[in-house]
Amino acid sequence: MSLHGLLSVTIGVPNVEETAAYYADFGLAPEADGWFSTRDAGRQLRLVAAPTRRLVELRIGVDDPDDLDRTAASLARLGLTAARQGTTLETAEPVTGTRVALEVAPRLRQDLVAATPYNGPGRLERQGNRAPGFMRQDPVRPRKLGHAVLGTTDYARTTQFFADGLGFKVSDRIAGIAAFLRCSTDHHNVLVLAAPVNFLHHTSWQVDDIDDVGRGAQSMLEGNPERHIWGLGRHYAGSNFFWYLKDPAGNFSEYYSDMDCIPEDQLWTPEDLEGARGLFAWGPPPPASFLHPEDLAAMMTGAHAPR
Ligand SMILES: [Fe+2]
Repeated sequence: MSLHGLLSVTIGVPNVEETAAYYADFGLAPEADGWFSTRDAGRQLRLVAAPTRRLVELRIGVDDPDDLDRTAASLARLGLTAARQGTTLETAEPVTGTRVALEVAPRLRQDLVAATPYNGPGRLERQGNRAPGFMRQDPVRPRKLGHAVLGTTDYARTTQFFADGLGFKVSDRIAGIAAFLRCSTDHHNVLVLAAPVNFLHHTSWQVDDIDDVGRGAQSMLEGNPERHIWGLGRHYAGSNFFWYLKDPAGNFSEYYSDMDCIPEDQLWTPEDLEGARGLFAWGPPPPASFLHPEDLAAMMTGAHAPR
């Protein structure tokens, strides 16, 4: 696979300062120029001013310059243009207008974090101590950006852009509604979602384990219960534990752990997920606002207003 990972997201919001404070609370390290860093992968989120919230840019890592030439040719076959500048190829997703930059970049190598000991029947990994998650004093800081979920008014075209244009692989689908696409060994790095308006549904950030999913969410909700959207639960697609929170601009951000890994394409059989499986394996019932964020109607009105 020539693509090897999602490098960063740029999110446009009308309230940059307030939203920046939220992502600092979320555990991303703010820098002076609007960027935020994760623990393992550096600068991965940028906030910029925009009239309404939206996904402005995705940066994707590739191995070498030949990959850029191949991608430019694939995009041309779809009738799309791309601009090459040195080791970067820039294009735009044709439905949502999200800028997509492919960049020659080193692959992310994460240091091994020792497995958390969990007891089970006949398997006492921890004896004489309380759960180690309780001993952690440090605030949760996400390890890396995992994925972004893009709502699009033309599901087929946006999916075609990522799959045929850029070379993302399909991991699973909800027929006609959602495509879980990967550009790394993670189960999904981009999820294309059929929607009545183009918008950013959520970004997702890896933490060490289920305890840190819980610890992170707990800390975000302390004094800010309105940030809660949905969790704790476990997705079927990707198998990850999740907890979704909402930033002050209306974008959701997810803490996740234990995502499925697909090192060889032949090892994985994509499924067409039906019913609840498309959404989750277990957890509290998903709130209506998860599927249809409350500001969508207003965004649609804006989208249809005369320019
Ligand atoms: Fe997610």
